[in-house]
Amino acid sequence: MKVIKRADFGESFSWGVSTAAYQVEGAHDVDGKGLSIWDEFVARKGKIYQGHHANIACDFYNRFPDDLELIRKLNIPNHRFSLSWSRIIPEGTGRVSRKGIDFYNRLIDQSLALNIEPWVTLYHWDLPYSLHLEGGWTNREIIGWFSNYVSVCAHHFGDRVKHWMILNEPMVFTGAGYFLGVHAPGKKGIRNFLAAVHHATLAQAEGGRVMRQLLPYAKIGTTFSCSHVEPYRQTIKDYKAATQVDALLNRTFIEPLLGMGYPTADLKILKRIEQFVKQDDEAKMMFNMDFIGIQNYTRELVKYNPFNPFIAARIVKASERNVPLKTTMNWEVYPESIYHMLKKFAAYPEVKKLIITENGAAFPDTFMDGKVEDNLRVYFMQDHIAQVLRAKKEGVNVHGYFIWTLLDNFEWAEGYLPTFGLIHVNRQTLERTIKSSGYWYRDFLSH
Ligand code: BGC
Repeated sequence: MKVIKRADFGESFSWGVSTAAYQVEGAHDVDGKGLSIWDEFVARKGKIYQGHHANIACDFYNRFPDDLELIRKLNIPNHRFSLSWSRIIPEGTGRVSRKGIDFYNRLIDQSLALNIEPWVTLYHWDLPYSLHLEGGWTNREIIGWFSNYVSVCAHHFGDRVKHWMILNEPMVFTGAGYFLGVHAPGKKGIRNFLAAVHHATLAQAEGGRVMRQLLPYAKIGTTFSCSHVEPYRQTIKDYKAATQVDALLNRTFIEPLLGMGYPTADLKILKRIEQFVKQDDEAKMMFNMDFIGIQNYTRELVKYNPFNPFIAARIVKASERNVPLKTTMNWEVYPESIYHMLKKFAAYPEVKKLIITENGAAFPDTFMDGKVEDNLRVYFMQDHIAQVLRAKKEGVNVHGYFIWTLLDNFEWAEGYLPTFGLIHVNRQTLERTIKSSGYWYRDFLSH
């Protein structure tokens, strides 16, 4: 097999690494930061693997100068990170925290000084807790709260940040946080979910409009989780079940953004969103993004299941199947999934540009003699990057690839068990050690 080189992607392709505020920053209650739904959720019994929390996480809040040095050392030209809403506006609305703004100013300035381009996500799941008390994403008022926060960020950071992403994976924070209750804020039920979906759809487009108005030259995008979905068996029932799951996981958020409305023809339950829809919402859900961020980790196989009241389908987990390789998350390693997703999203004529804003894998790493030789992660990256190139060569307008993630960090409900980083973090001392995958990426990026 021909070895893939950075040069195969062309000069203008953006290579990077992604992180998120809550997963790395720590400093959960210092310098006037307000409480977020994740700060509160981790304190509840039984919610997080072994009671882990992110009060300290990787202490990125204090150690970011060293971490930026590591990014530079690895030749990574772009760093995608998120802003913590409750660090900037502690109560969600109203007073802006000078210290919160200062922190992100230092992070941005220091990145630029090291020639690392900041790519900023506005919302990566850590909603201010005060807004949760008002209903959070189930309350339509959130469109206004969010727009105000977006304008504060544009005002303070827009002179230096050129790439913005409005939301991180709305399907995950609405599904896990408002339907299954396994992520913050731990709400359950179809009503909460559908309300959250609709308000996130509206906030996403409105956030885009606010940004474009305040920063006409910025590149504005948003990011979607997605997985290639296939029927478990070649039966009509499984095929139909797969179509529904595909509509849910891959189409619910992008189609209204593009003016196509929710994919109700393939997923009936979404019709119930109507109860939250107001006049003119169809138009308000639309926004012409400069790019769409695709975040892919695996594929899903789906079986017909008549017992689920909302969708006659069941995802057959990798642990129930005979898959050659799965990750600590129990996700099948299936590199073709990223290729199929690129083709799928590129098929919407309104999508201008695609960027892989996350892709990566958690494997059980071994720290030995001061090293982590994580060959499985290296193969994972090579195989996925090869699939991105395959799509690009077939004409897909893909312009970037960001690996998830820089540091072994707080993996939400799974705590610190899964390790996704290019850099190992000692959980006692927080000492950083670059893994083989980090060195591999460095070498790949320098040729
Ligand atoms: C999220 C990250 C998460 C990663 C791995 C994505 O769903 O954006 O925050 O850590 O996947 O699960």
